[in-house]
Amino acid sequence: MSKVKINFNLNYEDVTVEVDSNKRLVDMLREDLGLKSVKEGCGEGECGACTVILDGKAVTSCTVLGPQVDGCSVVTLEGLSKNGELDKLQESFIEAGAVQCGFCTPGMILSAKALLMENPNPTKEEIKRAMAGNLCRCTGYVKIVEAVELATKR
Ligand code: FES
Ligand code: FES
Repeated sequence: MSKVKINFNLNYEDVTVEVDSNKRLVDMLREDLGLKSVKEGCGEGECGACTVILDGKAVTSCTVLGPQVDGCSVVTLEGLSKNGELDKLQESFIEAGAVQCGFCTPGMILSAKALLMENPNPTKEEIKRAMAGNLCRCTGYVKIVEAVELATKR
């Protein structure tokens, strides 16, 4: 397997990693960089569990190859809390009761974060549209949308 060396910005720090040329971003983040918040569900771009923020946009990391992020910026859930303090979205998800098993939560929060970075005051419809690619088998989505609305008010 040929390896490539790539440089990119990960959770606001520059990193260099040597990665198998055909390794998916989800595997590179989990296995090579130890970021276990990135979850794999379907592995086919359908469930959103593996969502990360790539150059400001929410993307499914199971459909991107690791080497493709050379020169880019990537944010995972680990990048949201600063000095041990939770991001307002994380707090809102807890407060709104939007976390049950938690498997979908990192991807949900990162999709919501990408939305709020672009549009700090989204309507309910805009929130629903931004989260449409993130599946949750536990909560029924109402509390998830409420959590994002709550974060916009903080
Ligand atoms: Fe990537 Fe489901 S694991 S979209
Ligand atoms: Fe369990 Fe969403 S909280 S899948």
